[in-house]
Amino acid sequence: MLKLASSISAERLPELLRRMPKAELHIHIEGSLEPELIFALAQRNGVQIPYASVEELRKAYAFTNLQSFLDIYYAGASVLLKEQDFYDMAWAYLRRAAADNVVRAEIFFDPQTHTARGVSMETVINGLYRACEQAHADLGVSASLILCFLRHLSEEEAFETLEQALPYRDKFIGVGLDSSEVGHPPEKFARVFARCRELGLHLVAHAGEEGPPAYVWTALDLLKVERVDHGVQSTKDAALMQRLAKDRIPLTVCPLSNLKLCVFPQLKDHNLGQLLDAGLVATVNSDDPAYFGGYMNDNFIQTFAATGLTAPQAYQLAKNSFDASFIDASMKRRYTDLLDATFAAFE
Ligand code: HPA
Ligand code: ZN
Repeated sequence: MLKLASSISAERLPELLRRMPKAELHIHIEGSLEPELIFALAQRNGVQIPYASVEELRKAYAFTNLQSFLDIYYAGASVLLKEQDFYDMAWAYLRRAAADNVVRAEIFFDPQTHTARGVSMETVINGLYRACEQAHADLGVSASLILCFLRHLSEEEAFETLEQALPYRDKFIGVGLDSSEVGHPPEKFARVFARCRELGLHLVAHAGEEGPPAYVWTALDLLKVERVDHGVQSTKDAALMQRLAKDRIPLTVCPLSNLKLCVFPQLKDHNLGQLLDAGLVATVNSDDPAYFGGYMNDNFIQTFAATGLTAPQAYQLAKNSFDASFIDASMKRRYTDLLDATFAAFE
């Protein structure tokens, strides 16, 4: 398949990138909340937001680092109150994902952002889960939920959140760690993750987005994560790169997010190609598409145009996305067969 793909010309790459089936493994559902939906929900729920219009809100999306984004992202999520709101948000994302030929989505949600405002765990999870079921039935998209702990909050609060979520254990497949990275290293949550591991939950964590390679090491060795979210700082540590390659630890890379949060000065400087060349299981994802200017195919198309990645690398990234996902081996095979068929038909 890789040999075949190498004959696909650069002009036809965007169409190939759009058409190829793919999995999205790093999407914060609250980061898919478009300004139009924020305003509609604010009105529906009688919530005040400090922006006069959709345009004014969009203009505020000029970020200098992760924290400058998080402040506005948590403010946007304040319009979510009812189960239907969570459903509507997730359904809008899943329709958008299906249009990009995403056939599998593993979706982060931040329950503490909502429970802190008096919204119940039941409301959050039931709304999101219903949209995932609907996506399977109506769109042919397989979708699962991953509960993220906010790392700027305490270990005790993470344990409380886990307790609140356990009655809905069958509605999420794993846990993650997000929010402000620097100053909140993975080890702060080692005991919570150990408990989640005993419960049979999948484990992932954001590490090496802005934080140092040391945070990727501790995510691996202390939290025992199966995937690293972002992880782009790993290229600064040769021993870490070897470890990630040897153990085939996937990285869920988010190029447009990295650009918007100034992790790389320009998209052409992104290290995705370097990660692939080193043999890492790197994947492409959208992170917070409503805030960072693009969904899955925008991430693929803009990154390939800026960095000169080629069709064999497109194949590798899509293949990696299925290999890195938490679906069973037979589903991985089915999606990879579909990917092969798409490439074969394209030539
Ligand atoms: N990093 C950390 N926390 C987040 C992000 C991110 O990119 N997006 C939403 N929460
Ligand atoms: Zn993220």
